[in-house]
Amino acid sequence: MSRTAYVNGAYVRQSDAVVSIEDRGYQFADAVYEVWSVFDGRLADLEGHLNRLERSLAELKIAMPMPRSALLVVLTEVVRRNRIREGMVYLQISRGVAPRDHVFPDNVRPAMVVTAKPVDRIAAAKKALAGITAKSMPDIRWGRCDIKTVGLLPNVLAKQAAREEGAGEVIFVDSDGYVTEGGSTNVYMIGTNGVILTRDLKANILAGVTRLTLLKLIAGTGLEIREVAFTLEAAKAASEVFITAATSLVMPIIAIDGHLIGDGKPGPVASALRDSYIIHARNTALV
Ligand code: PDD
Repeated sequence: MSRTAYVNGAYVRQSDAVVSIEDRGYQFADAVYEVWSVFDGRLADLEGHLNRLERSLAELKIAMPMPRSALLVVLTEVVRRNRIREGMVYLQISRGVAPRDHVFPDNVRPAMVVTAKPVDRIAAAKKALAGITAKSMPDIRWGRCDIKTVGLLPNVLAKQAAREEGAGEVIFVDSDGYVTEGGSTNVYMIGTNGVILTRDLKANILAGVTRLTLLKLIAGTGLEIREVAFTLEAAKAASEVFITAATSLVMPIIAIDGHLIGDGKPGPVASALRDSYIIHARNTALV
């Protein structure tokens, strides 16, 4: 079955879909994006991602291309037309198309693209049972990682470097030696006292929507989580390390830079949190 994409007002065969060579997303990375996971054909953490999308757009002074309600129709229509039951949806909004000039063009309309693809949940579950390894890298990104822009070149290069060493994710470390986040995920460690730590949002990181949901889920358990900075050394000495994102959900990290975390197997807390997140996402996914 050929896939269908939404491109600037039309649903088109994805293989035929095109955007302008003067799209500012293409020329300047002047664009933002969101990724939703889809469970049972419905979008998980719908509101959280829409809230962050509106914030990212506002920070870049790009107008919402359509009201939320219309956006929702497009997102669900792309899921429906692609017959996605388990998968993900990608949305990108650029400032629009205009002759190349760094300053904002006048009267430009935002350009919007939505795609969807299936995800093999069984393969993902197997991956989570095995856990993945990570490579630490200096965080050389710009100072506004709170905005979800498509300007991801440092992430791309770091994730490729990790891949070339057989690692599944990057752990970015700031100039003071503290973990910021992953290449495309938020990072957590569990100390020997059982307290879960994750970097606070005053740091230069993305406010993960999965992170926000997980914080709420953890609040309903006996577990304690603190939003504080922790060093790479502390993470390596942790009993568990894990990451979250709409793509990987909750994924245990079993080694960093070749150093085993705990006994080198996914820990019980990360595994339980993965299960809770998936149950929650399935039960609350909307539309
Ligand atoms: N990445 N930090 C970074 C740098 C990210 O790129 C992402 C998500 C996250 C987690 O955010 P969320 O829980 O809202 O997905 C944290 C997406 C999935 C991506 O680039 O594909």
